[in-house]
Amino acid sequence: MAQFLYIVQSSLEPAKCKIGITDNLERRLKEYNSTTGQSKDNIYKFLFTCEVKDMRAIEKDIKNQFPHLREQSSREIYFYNNSLFDMYVDFIRSHPLFISETFIKEPEKKTIIKIVKKTTPTLQERGLTREKVMTKAKKVDNDEFYTRYEDIEKEISMYPISTWIDKCVFCNCDDAVGETRTEKDSSAFALFFIKNFIALGLKKLICTHYSGQMDLFQAGAKGYIFTKEGVKEMTKMPKGYTGCFEDPESLRILHEEADIVCTNPPFSRAIDYWRTIINSDKKFLIISNIVNVLNTAYLPYFIEKKVWAGYNRVDWFLNPKREKVDASAHWYTNIPIINRPKYRLLKIVPLSEIPERYVKKDDKGYLLFDNGYIPSDYQDVFGVSSRAILNGILEKGYKIVNNKQYIPYINNKAQWSRVLIQKI
Ligand SMILES: C[S@@+](CC[C@H](N)C(=O)[O-])C[C@H]1O[C@@H](n2cnc3c(N)ncnc32)[C@H](O)[C@@H]1O
Repeated sequence: MAQFLYIVQSSLEPAKCKIGITDNLERRLKEYNSTTGQSKDNIYKFLFTCEVKDMRAIEKDIKNQFPHLREQSSREIYFYNNSLFDMYVDFIRSHPLFISETFIKEPEKKTIIKIVKKTTPTLQERGLTREKVMTKAKKVDNDEFYTRYEDIEKEISMYPISTWIDKCVFCNCDDAVGETRTEKDSSAFALFFIKNFIALGLKKLICTHYSGQMDLFQAGAKGYIFTKEGVKEMTKMPKGYTGCFEDPESLRILHEEADIVCTNPPFSRAIDYWRTIINSDKKFLIISNIVNVLNTAYLPYFIEKKVWAGYNRVDWFLNPKREKVDASAHWYTNIPIINRPKYRLLKIVPLSEIPERYVKKDDKGYLLFDNGYIPSDYQDVFGVSSRAILNGILEKGYKIVNNKQYIPYINNKAQWSRVLIQKI
């Protein structure tokens, strides 16, 4: 008797799929559609079918592999979004009991332009000048820029696994499901933690997303909770819950449940978001504009060494059409950073070795250093860009001397913002 494994989905429930087994695929699909009474509104369709050697054994392995994605332990209903589909199919295809594929749904059309991977190219290599970078930084005000999966993977892989083990991660600006029937898809933060839930040893993952306005009809859930016992839609939310990070229920989750907050918050609310996270005293790993390090809301925490830059900058995002757009952002965190690789971008050398074109004196007499140069033998206060802070100069025996950004003037002409620092 032939044995088959299938992934089936109802058109009414795009956030779920059933992963089942049968000896007759055609009959099984008819059964699904006859139980609901086939209608225009609710049609079950196979997303994937394949022949396998021992369907019960492979079904059991799927259960063990994705416990956090099962809706109920008694039924084979799994959490679904387009990207998770690839994960389920990859697992089945690479299983030793897999024989051959018999059907797979058409792949989603993707408009993402591939980027050539490079390790920290210079500004020159990227065809950029400092002015262009600052203009790009100003562009980071669009709330609907989405983070690329690879940028999240690259940053999170830098932290030891002990950071995540048995922790509750809260992604409070992240849609776990995505409106997959439009160009918009689920958040790569939600996706990353869902896919790596077991590998990171997470205790819980909570993803909430913003509805934009009051949900007058209390229609849609605004979040999902993943644990080793399965996935739950947050259906019983307090009346009027919008998914806003400042909503009382989001704050309750932040204060009472979360251990680590991880997201790319709306750029236009960067300061409010920062205050919310700082006041929570929780660990965080978030993305923000590179120039925010100089903001009066951020700077005091850098001065007190309560927060610092994460490992990587983020130069590319996806717009709602999934097209690549550039902007200058960076990871910010209060999780310890070990042997920051970006120290190598700091050129700490005697003043006499710094090329003249990278040193300027401003109208107040402060020296301003560019291009990563830092004088090792200069005792006075001097100005550097936000990059020097993000590259870890405060961990190299220098301190910030003024809790405000510094706008230098040269011949009465305002220059781009710096921060004043001094050797300790
Ligand atoms: C810069 S996007 C990033 C989305 C996602 N975190 C990612 O990294 O791809 C910011 C997201 O926050 C949502 N948002 C806007 N205002 C919000 C608020 N007050 N509370 C929570 N989320 C909000 C936006 O709809 C948008 O999806």
